[in-house]
Amino acid sequence: MILNYNEKIPNNVDINDDRRLKRALERWQPEFLNWWNELGPDNSKDLEVYLRTAISVDKDGWAHFDYVKMPEYRWGIFLTPSDSERRIGFGIHKGDPVWQEIPGEYRSDLRRLIVTQGDTEPASVEQQRQLGKTCPSLYDLRNLFQINVEEGRHLWAMVYLLQAYFGRDGREDAEAMLERHSGDPDKPRILEAFNEETSDWLSFFMFTYFTDRDGKFQLASLAESAFDPLSRTCRFMLTEEAHHMFVGETGIGRIVRRSCELMKENNTEDIREYGGIDLTTIQKYLNSHFSVSTDLFGQELSTNAANYYNSGIKGRFGESKIEDDHLLHDSGYSILELLGDKIVTKEVPAINAVNERLRDEYILDSNLGVRRWNKIISDFGFDFRFMIPHRAFNRNIGQFSAYLTTPEGGIISKSEWENRKDDWLPNNNDKKFVQSLMQPVTEPGKIANWISPPSGKINRQPFEFEYVRFN
Ligand SMILES: [Fe+2]
Ligand SMILES: [Fe+2]
Repeated sequence: MILNYNEKIPNNVDINDDRRLKRALERWQPEFLNWWNELGPDNSKDLEVYLRTAISVDKDGWAHFDYVKMPEYRWGIFLTPSDSERRIGFGIHKGDPVWQEIPGEYRSDLRRLIVTQGDTEPASVEQQRQLGKTCPSLYDLRNLFQINVEEGRHLWAMVYLLQAYFGRDGREDAEAMLERHSGDPDKPRILEAFNEETSDWLSFFMFTYFTDRDGKFQLASLAESAFDPLSRTCRFMLTEEAHHMFVGETGIGRIVRRSCELMKENNTEDIREYGGIDLTTIQKYLNSHFSVSTDLFGQELSTNAANYYNSGIKGRFGESKIEDDHLLHDSGYSILELLGDKIVTKEVPAINAVNERLRDEYILDSNLGVRRWNKIISDFGFDFRFMIPHRAFNRNIGQFSAYLTTPEGGIISKSEWENRKDDWLPNNNDKKFVQSLMQPVTEPGKIANWISPPSGKINRQPFEFEYVRFN
């Protein structure tokens, strides 16, 4: 099925058949564009960017590349095709046909989940809006904008669900998505990680590696939902999300490679004077972004998450591949807990630990890229290794938020924390230094000194390709 781009709002959900919905979306569209022009990528209005746009939802059609003027990007509503045989895979309704409409008793829970997910999408666009000014290359600038337009589309995806299934409440929620702003003291974004500014490219790559990965796990759990339109929406979003994490992983990898080159050339680990980011500083940024993103999974034991699971509205990661009864009535799960001054494992009812299980999967997945970064370092013959901090480190949500720990998870006092936190998290000096490297490079084929060129290509185009045209 090819999407019709002559439509005002490209879609594969037949919005023409529903006049009320069509009117609501067409009323929201100019508000979205106002928001984009005001709080989307700064100074991007006249640029022509080599972007991927979905022209169909099948395997071959969703990655169509061409130059697009950013405000003319066609944000649309795309769901993966429906499967009329699909059945609910877990919880008390397991085995029933999936829902095409929302059962009244689950309306408010679903609404809360959709609003929370939706709010993160425009938030990240706002957080990243200044980065274009300091891009290390045109290739990177293009990737930034690709992510930005897709996060914008993810907002459309959630707003569609709100307007199509939640009536007046949903229309109000859709408007509020554009009224809350990242970092706004009066109307902040819902989740804390989305209120911090992404002010440099090291942070951007860490964000897309760690925070977009939280998105992957949340979307994958929602893709299991008994509410079929939500499931199909999230499945399509996940195909786009993969690219965001790719940008993060390869971005950090390229910084690490460049740092290793500078270490080798100059025979020192202290490469700041040669314009490189030392590995210790990269580790600090990693610590910071990992711990903030780990908070996004919420409390270790959660009755909300248990209710979502029981009712079938949010499952576990890869639910259908897990071999158990998918009810979790009498199974256990082991979580970490603080006993005295030691962190120990404890068996709890699995149904209460759905969040923690998701966090576990997230941490495992996060480690894969870290291993690849370490491989770069070991190939250069250096001993330094990056490490994911202990989940108890630097937390603001959950049981560990009450304690201070080292990155290895050892409990420490407030005064020890104060003495050592500058060794573990980016301090003002580190931030100032990283910021000082952020000078724009916009000539095709050129790249900033602190990062190496990519080895991969975008749609078979080489690094030297003119990914962004300035008119
Ligand atoms: Fe997203
Ligand atoms: Fe993303």
